[in-house]
Amino acid sequence: MFKFILVFLLINCNYGKYLYQTKFLSVPVDHFSFANNASFKLRYLINDTYWDSNGPIFFYTGNEGNITVFAENSGFIWEIADTFGALIVFAEHRYYGESMPFGNKSLINNSYLGYLSSSQALADYVYLIDYLQSNKNYADYSIRNPVVAFGGSYGGMLAAWIRMKYPAFVLGAIASSAPIYQFQGLTPCETYNDILTSVYNVSSNNNCPYIIKKSWPALRQVLSSPNGTEWLISTWKLCRPIQSKESIDTLIIDWLTNVYSNLAMANYPYPANFLAPLPAYPVKEFCRKLKLENINNITLLLTDLGNALQVYSNFTGKSECLNINSSTSDIGEDVWDYQACTEMVMPMCSGKFGMFEEERWNFTKYSADCEKRFGVPPIRPDLAILEYGGKDIKSASNIVFSNGLMDPWSGGGVLQDVSPNVRAILIPDGAHHLDLRSYNELDPKSVISARKFHQQAIRHWLKTYKTENLELNSVNIQNNYA
Ligand SMILES: *[C@@H]1O[C@H](CO)[C@@H](O)[C@H](O)[C@H]1NC(C)=O
Ligand SMILES: *[C@@H]1O[C@H](CO)[C@@H](O)[C@H](O)[C@H]1NC(C)=O
Ligand SMILES: *[C@@H]1O[C@H](CO)[C@@H](O)[C@H](O)[C@H]1NC(C)=O
Ligand SMILES: *[C@@H]1O[C@H](CO)[C@@H](O)[C@H](O)[C@H]1NC(C)=O
Ligand SMILES: *[C@@H]1O[C@H](CO)[C@@H](O)[C@H](O)[C@H]1NC(C)=O
Ligand SMILES: *[C@@H]1O[C@H](CO)[C@@H](O)[C@H](O)[C@H]1NC(C)=O
Ligand SMILES: *[C@@H]1O[C@H](CO)[C@@H](O)[C@H](O)[C@H]1NC(C)=O
Ligand SMILES: *[C@@H]1O[C@H](CO)[C@@H](O)[C@H](O)[C@H]1NC(C)=O
Ligand SMILES: *[C@@H]1O[C@H](CO)[C@@H](O)[C@H](O)[C@H]1NC(C)=O
Ligand SMILES: *[C@@H]1O[C@H](CO)[C@@H](O)[C@H](O)[C@H]1NC(C)=O
Ligand SMILES: *[C@@H]1O[C@H](CO)[C@@H](O)[C@H](O)[C@H]1NC(C)=O
Repeated sequence: MFKFILVFLLINCNYGKYLYQTKFLSVPVDHFSFANNASFKLRYLINDTYWDSNGPIFFYTGNEGNITVFAENSGFIWEIADTFGALIVFAEHRYYGESMPFGNKSLINNSYLGYLSSSQALADYVYLIDYLQSNKNYADYSIRNPVVAFGGSYGGMLAAWIRMKYPAFVLGAIASSAPIYQFQGLTPCETYNDILTSVYNVSSNNNCPYIIKKSWPALRQVLSSPNGTEWLISTWKLCRPIQSKESIDTLIIDWLTNVYSNLAMANYPYPANFLAPLPAYPVKEFCRKLKLENINNITLLLTDLGNALQVYSNFTGKSECLNINSSTSDIGEDVWDYQACTEMVMPMCSGKFGMFEEERWNFTKYSADCEKRFGVPPIRPDLAILEYGGKDIKSASNIVFSNGLMDPWSGGGVLQDVSPNVRAILIPDGAHHLDLRSYNELDPKSVISARKFHQQAIRHWLKTYKTENLELNSVNIQNNYA
């Protein structure tokens, strides 16, 4: 149903590469009412080895998943902490990993899930920041440790939003691959899939999108023929699913759609581990296996496609069968769907010219699916715009938005400078938040420059942090109307 979940990438290679302590802070279940005084323990990871006690706090605003995954995959933060004398903190988003407001009841139904929202999560983070700042002198903020927020994907949206909403607590934000414009009326719904199509137009095979486009009717035809599903299961070596025939068909089509997205997001210049290990530039490898001369023979076309899928599902050659069950085990996919059904409604569709089957955005259907699944339809699809301002963010400051242009989510990202203080950094050959990952010798120049830019921005923010207060005081004196 929600095939376009905001998946960030779990390139979980080198587990245990970074060391930290795991801690918990008690935070309110509901920050926005006085009717519920319950609290729960929010998990965060902390490393103070590089911290100079006056130094900044590098605060990762956790996304929709186990926070340890983000700590492992945000090497950039670890690599620069020493130079900045920074305290490293990765905060877990409520309702993911171990941060469950109602323990094992948290995900039962809307009565418990109802406290899941980006605004509650941001308030959790502010609670934690306030706790971490060693000097809580609210009269003179320049004494407190400055905080720089970092985040990728949904976490990047949170990093940008926490700076906008709580500028007193967060000095600046590095928001990587953060599609804050992926909401109703801000970005055409087909943009995401159009970008995917262009990513699949690789130099090794310009016909790749065309062949993929041709594969959908072929698949439909095979799946509707008497033994077609059986044939496909055996040709593609699918793990034998127990579901009914109808749901298998949907499963195959949905899974395939997700694979195209995931391959593009993980289109990194070096081999990486995403669900299963992937080669460098996996999209190129995938497309190499599709042959134009076979498009008119369904058997050959789908056999080619099955071979190409091996790049995604069997790069190691060790997979016995292809598991089309949604297998993003590290991320709370179901939990994200609740967010997508309430606050994070991101219209998606595919147009005539992309490589996907044409599909309109149908809010009525979306809403009905949400109601059925969670007992709660989106109250209003523009809720996130009401909360965060949509494209009207010119009053914001100290944010760097970075986007890899090969990342389908870049379509909903901030791609142009908003003001001298809200900057857009483009990484033409980058995939999904590549810049937050650790250094790799195969990194393209553009991502190396982006990382340099981030550091310059942070340095600049830190430099003005203490002086700004004085400037503000002098402004206040000049504006003394009395
Ligand atoms: C902090 O991280 C560094 C680098 O990974 C590591 O050497 C150090 O032991 C860590 N410190 C703590 C307290 O975990
Ligand atoms: C929370 O509220 C309940 C009743 O409304 C009260 O009995 C309890 O003491 C309160 N707990 C705290 C920590 O304030
Ligand atoms: C989170 O990831 C760690 C590995 O980093 C794993 O040990 C743990 O079981 C995971 N927890 C949850 C709740 O998924
Ligand atoms: C939830 O946890 C409690 C205590 O830890 C346990 O007794 C109960 O069976 C669990 N419930 C579910 C649905 O897992
Ligand atoms: C959620 O489940 C709890 C416990 O089973 C129940 O008391 C409550 O009424 C349910 N809420 C909804 C909205 O279904
Ligand atoms: C693929 O790229 C080539 C140029 O590299 C362009 O001429 C062609 O129109 C593109 N095809 C699609 C389907 O976008
Ligand atoms: C389709 O399945 C039936 C029953 O399993 C079998 O008898 C028949 O030979 C199959 N046909 C083809 C074309 O594979
Ligand atoms: C498709 O190709 C296969 C293998 O070359 C061949 O046996 C079959 O007859 C072809 N089908 C059509 C419809 O051309
Ligand atoms: C994975 O690759 C190996 C080696 O090429 C092959 O034997 C195996 O059948 C493949 N598994 C699947 C599911 O295709
Ligand atoms: C796929 O998911 C279904 C339903 O959750 C489960 O019954 C089945 O065993 C799973 N299959 C595989 C291969 O994991
Ligand atoms: C949208 O979905 C609803 C419910 O599934 C359906 O009745 C309606 O015809 C659809 N609208 C369009 C424009 O496809």
